Amino acid sequence: MVYRVLVVDDEPNMRAVLSDVLTEEGYEVAVARDGAECIARAASGDFHVVVLDLKLPDASGIDVLREIRAHTPETVVIMITAYSSVDTAIEAMKCGAYDYITKPFKIDNFRMVVKSALELGAPFSRAPRRQALRVESEFGMVGSTPEMQRIFRMIDDIAPTNATVLIYGESGTGKELLARAVHNCSHRADKPFVKVNCAAVPENLLESELFGHERGAFTSAVARRLGRFEVADTGTVFLDEIGEMSPAMQAKLLRVTQEKEFERVGSSQTIRVDVRIVAATNQDLKERVARGEFREDLYYRLSVIPVYLPPLRERKADIPLLVNKFIAYYSETLGRKVTQVSEDGMRMLMDYDWPGNVRELENCIERAVIFAKGSVIEEDNLYIGLPAINAPASSGTHGNGGEAGQAGPGVRPMSIREVEKAHIVQVLRETHSNRTLAARILQISRRTLLNKIKEYGIAE
Ligand SMILES: Nc1ncnc2c1ncn2[C@@H]1O[C@H](COP(=O)(O)OP(=O)(O)OP(=O)(O)O)[C@@H](O)[C@H]1O
Ligand SMILES: [Mg+2]
Repeated sequence: MVYRVLVVDDEPNMRAVLSDVLTEEGYEVAVARDGAECIARAASGDFHVVVLDLKLPDASGIDVLREIRAHTPETVVIMITAYSSVDTAIEAMKCGAYDYITKPFKIDNFRMVVKSALELGAPFSRAPRRQALRVESEFGMVGSTPEMQRIFRMIDDIAPTNATVLIYGESGTGKELLARAVHNCSHRADKPFVKVNCAAVPENLLESELFGHERGAFTSAVARRLGRFEVADTGTVFLDEIGEMSPAMQAKLLRVTQEKEFERVGSSQTIRVDVRIVAATNQDLKERVARGEFREDLYYRLSVIPVYLPPLRERKADIPLLVNKFIAYYSETLGRKVTQVSEDGMRMLMDYDWPGNVRELENCIERAVIFAKGSVIEEDNLYIGLPAINAPASSGTHGNGGEAGQAGPGVRPMSIREVEKAHIVQVLRETHSNRTLAARILQISRRTLLNKIKEYGIAE
């Protein structure tokens, strides 16, 4: 299939250069000199991509963009702007432009943007969808509600492209799982998936963490170290908790998203990489942009494909599916024969609001599988609203950590014995049933541990 691109610019030189580059890439190229000609040509719907100058003699590029979006929404539009008009470029992104390039630009960069735009545009012209969605069938993400189905379809479509994805959702809604699905469904699947938790790395180390450093770049830099972006070359970088990034780092990241290049700390040599960026946040980034705390240009760079994962309480119909998935999983890994939850138990699960979202539900089912007497999880086995058995000592500072220690309505408090049993099971699992190690962690003798295992009937 030959891709068709329309280049719109009033400067003859620019038109010629751009057409040449694109023709070389094997695309079929047409040109237009002004807004009217562009609108007339694009209206045919013949073009996969329109490369549109923001400043045209007879119309504003934004108006032309609006016109194209209104009549042929499947056409992907890339804006070209002078550096001074970045604000307008952002406006263009809001109006549905796929991306923008600021003048002067590197030809390579231009080539890459058009290429990724075509990959994004390709789904529109693709053969009918495969029956099963890959995200769902292969990567263990479940959800039958229309919201989740829509997300799965979207990920299926955009995963094969290089488009940057920004995942937004409360803690525990599945952001990381989704980020991995994006990577695993892409042609980068067998390349590295590199995760950076931007909130966990101290501010002064984040730059070196992301971009690497040369020996001697700072006192503790005793050897050259590759940054995460270099490690992830040809693969995907997952920037978790992106909202926590300082303004200085935001500026550096902006450059990477635009030019795909950076320097190691302490080096002037520019490194180019081919990485796809997936970012996640549990903050309302738009609001942080409005408050001036997050760069607007970076926000639009990252949210080429924004994905909002709704909290579990807004898609309760997914609960049974998730519950059954977790029962099957924990039954298998914990060597239990639990197969289902009683009707009353399910009602309890459906009634609760799950402030810790899917993660809290998963912890609850894991615990229930441990406590279930037979093959059915009863109400008694459900400890809803308690901190996770494996909850970290502090739940961090990033809000939404709702699952920790909230004894909400309908909570049945646990006895010391129950807590003790659950804790022993947890430690045994983490030590892969190494009893000596487990006893040391629990600070009890091995003998005492064996007695307790017997007493509580803990299966291993
Ligand atoms: N739709 C889903 N289907 C199956 N499992 C899910 C789903 N969503 C989340 N999970 C599971 O719930 C747990 C939490 O998911 P994940 O770590 O991706 O959440 P998160 O949004 O990144 O949370 P946080 O903001 O706290 O980092 C994981 O064990 C994940 O496998
Ligand atoms: Mg996460």
